Formats: sequence, C-alpha cells, structure tokens
Amino acid sequence: MALLDKNGLTEEEFLAAYRPGDYPRPSVTADMAVFRERSHGMELLLIRRGGHPFLDKWALPGGFSEPGETVDEAAARELREETNLMGLSLTPVGFFSQPGRDKRAWTMSEGFAAILHEDAPEPQAGDDARETGWFLVDSRWEEAVLTLTFAGQERFEAKLIRDGAYAFSILDTGGLAFDHAHIIARAMERMGLLQPEPVDYATLNAQLASLVEGVPHPLANLSNAAALLWDTLGGINWAGFYRMEGEKLVLGPFMGKPACIEIPLQKGVCGAAARRDTTQLVPDVHAFPGHIACDSASRSEIVVPLHKGGKVVAVLDIDSPLLHRFTEADKAGLEAFARILEGAL
Ligand code: SME
Repeated sequence: MALLDKNGLTEEEFLAAYRPGDYPRPSVTADMAVFRERSHGMELLLIRRGGHPFLDKWALPGGFSEPGETVDEAAARELREETNLMGLSLTPVGFFSQPGRDKRAWTMSEGFAAILHEDAPEPQAGDDARETGWFLVDSRWEEAVLTLTFAGQERFEAKLIRDGAYAFSILDTGGLAFDHAHIIARAMERMGLLQPEPVDYATLNAQLASLVEGVPHPLANLSNAAALLWDTLGGINWAGFYRMEGEKLVLGPFMGKPACIEIPLQKGVCGAAARRDTTQLVPDVHAFPGHIACDSASRSEIVVPLHKGGKVVAVLDIDSPLLHRFTEADKAGLEAFARILEGAL
C-alpha cells in the first residue's frame, strides 16, 4: 500500500502537484583561482571582464552552471572557454552564498583552486574574458587585517578580516569583481599559500615554560618544544633542532620530513647561526648562499642559536614553504622561546 503524507497524498500525487516555481531558487556558478609558482612568488590568473557587471574589472574566471552538468563540469568548461586551460585538477575551496554577493541576482558560487604545472601552456582569453593576466599575489597580516596584494598589468590591494574559522569578510575589494577577494583568500588558505596569522608568543612561551618546568631530560624538552612549535605555528614544513657535536651540528628532535643528519658549521643557514651566534632570518632560502635544501618545498627559514654556559650548544630551525614567512615579531618571539628552553637543557 502506498505511503500517504499528512495531506493524504501518495508520492506520485505529491510530485504531480509540486510547483517548483513557488520557491525562489538561486543560480549556481563556479569561480576558479588558478595559481602558478614563479621563482619570485606565486602568481594568480585573473581575467578582465568583457561584460556587465564589473565591465573591465579583473575577476576570477568562472560562470554559470548549466542544466545537466555538475558544478565541477561547469568549472572545467568555464575555464576552457575563458582561458583555454584544460585538464586541471580543481580543488573545491568553499561555497560562497552571502546574500547580495552578486548584484544581478541570487547567485551562489563554488570556489575552486588549482596550481598549474610549470610547463603548462599560457592561457588565452576567450568568451566573456577580454584579456587574461598573471598577477603576483602576496598576503600579509597587520593585527587582524589580511591584505592581499596583486601585481600585474595593474597593482591593487584587497583587505579582509576573519569571519569564523574559515570564512573572511571583505573590507575593501581593491577593485576586484564580486566577492572574488574572499574566494582568493580561501583558495590561498586551502592550497597553503596564505601567510598565517601572527602567533601569540606570550601564550606559546608560557606553554613552553610549563611544559619543561622541572623536567630534567634535555632530549624530552627539545622533543616537546618541537611538537609545540609544530602544533602552534602555521605555514611551516619543518621545526626542530640541530645539536653541536664537536665541530658540526647533528640532527636532534624535530617534526616534519626526514632531514639531513650532519651540518658542518661553515654550511647552511644552521651553520651560519651557530658560527655567528646570531639568529638567521632568511626570507628566501634560494637567495641564501650555501642553504641546504632538506625539503625542496622550503622557501624561507629562521634559525635561532641555543646556549649553555655561554656557548652555542644547539640551534632551533624552522622552515616554511612560503616566501618571507617569518617576521621580526617571529624572531623576537622565537628568541624568547629559545631563552626559556636554554634553562631546560
Ligand atoms: N636548511 C637548513 C638545513 C636543515 S633543514 O632545513 C631541516 C640549512 O640550510 O642549514
């Protein structure tokens, strides 16, 4: 016997009477943030819009999902039509549904990101795109404000603040179309391309102090210190220690990929920190003579010497896949971290 709902209708009768037009429905679009790595940083592909709204403004390639296709298929098709790029592996970065985000109509967009291979063909503008352009994209935090800088045919800046765990609110679009500054920030964060928010070193260093207090085991203290840094600092791919043994540094407790075991004092960023007994803040490791690449993904690094009895006995080394990840605030905070740890060696 057919199941009846509260109005006494079978499913068949219910569907026959259903009028989808009674319910307002949004359009669904896809917007794609395509990046490529250059020696001087990450570039983002933008298109100059050929039609209203935002005529002539820079925007992400994207467009409407058509009946009978998935949003993923729409993303691939729009990218091909507007930029002639094909076969990209597109990662979803979020669903953008803020009411009023599109002045035409109620539109929700799924954001996607991809990182192009170095040998990928150059994009070619087509369809709604008047031209394509690669923009060097950079991010920085000042207090709670995230600034995204775009440098290409033109230069502009967008400003955002965090709005929940993943989302951002736009303070200033910088002239980018729609809410694309938000989609770009989310895409960068999802792909590990966004600078992390500044670390609260007062809290971190208080945590370290309580972790090592009264613990008479130097190796255990270094291990917990590495774990604490790994757990707290964003945008890093290695955190740990090298310890002085005779005239060289030897790998100690760390988090991250396996690393080189011995570093002579005259080599690498670690060697320079130990030899000169000063913190080495390296914004671009490729520009540092003698840098030792343990992980080819590393792009910036900070190394802080640790002392005992007035001598350098170890170095704290942190690597990041982001260019200029470490700031003067990180340097000061990590030097204070090192002073606490020295008492526990
Ligand atoms: N890059 C370091 C080597 C150690 S790894 O980064 C873990 C250096 O140049 O000394």
